Amino acid sequence: MSAGRRNWKGVILAGGSGTRLYPLTTTINKQLLPIYDKPMVYYPLTTLMLAGIREFVLVSSPQALPQFQTCLGDGSKWGIQIEYAAQPSPDGIAQALLVAEKYIAGHPTALILGDNLFYGTGFSTQIQRAVSRANGATIYAYPVLHPEAFGIVTLDGTGRVLSLEEKPKTPKSNLAVPGLYFYDEDALEIARGLKPSPRGELEITDLNLEYLKRGQLHAEMMGRGSAWLDGGTPQTLFEASQFVIVMEQRTGLKIACPEEVAYRMGFITQGELQKIIGGLRPSEYRDYLVRLDLM
Ligand code: DAU
Repeated sequence: MSAGRRNWKGVILAGGSGTRLYPLTTTINKQLLPIYDKPMVYYPLTTLMLAGIREFVLVSSPQALPQFQTCLGDGSKWGIQIEYAAQPSPDGIAQALLVAEKYIAGHPTALILGDNLFYGTGFSTQIQRAVSRANGATIYAYPVLHPEAFGIVTLDGTGRVLSLEEKPKTPKSNLAVPGLYFYDEDALEIARGLKPSPRGELEITDLNLEYLKRGQLHAEMMGRGSAWLDGGTPQTLFEASQFVIVMEQRTGLKIACPEEVAYRMGFITQGELQKIIGGLRPSEYRDYLVRLDLM
């Protein structure tokens, strides 16, 4: 089935306390900080747009929601729809589904963490495949040097999931589960049944474990040519910017430009792109959109 026909929803989780980035986060939500030339939230948003998703719910703290509304609006200029839902306190990633309940009930839903950046050849095709899967959940596996900081998956030779653990002290593999999850219509009901973990959160790993128990958890390797980065600490935030500047300066192509993605995905017409350009003051970003319009 196509993304359009099954009417996928995309939830972007962009709350949290941002304490690891203090004092950068004193006045601004982490996911609005820049990754080189764009706000961080542009990266997860465009990732889900590339999967073909057009209806979004942005979940964040009540204080930060107005900042996001100013940054993204209702999405209509990019041919998408963005709703906003408040998470009163950061009580777990799986809680995002409950917070977004009224928008996602009865729909398959992709959940992405607001500080995760994905990039790589074949990546769009890979996530479009997850959207076309009729049942179950899809997660990804990505090799990392320090697996104890992540949800960790072990796979057998055929790619079947053998185990899944949240931040294990002695990891069984070096395969981390990135913050990008695709769920069928059952995810909400499963989330409703979750109990808080010892650290007091509704864990996304527990939700994924339920899909594993049902024999409906698909895990795919993200190839070596793909990049998965996050902007959670001063160092990773800086490294993510370095990654983006190197790629953009070399190719002249922007990573995570919503206008470009909307145009290439057919969410907006050339006329609508021109209208956006017409409304922008001179900037390097505007020059890029002008070049795009002429391509
Ligand atoms: O980055 C991938 C990892 O993300 C996964 O491998 C883990 O399985 C998953 O639990 C998660 O790990 P972290 O503990 O590192 O996630 P963190 O608490 O840093 O939250 C990730 C983002 O989600 C962060 O930008 C803040 C936001 N967040 C988090 C929670 C718990 C919220 O907006 N609300 C929340 O309640």
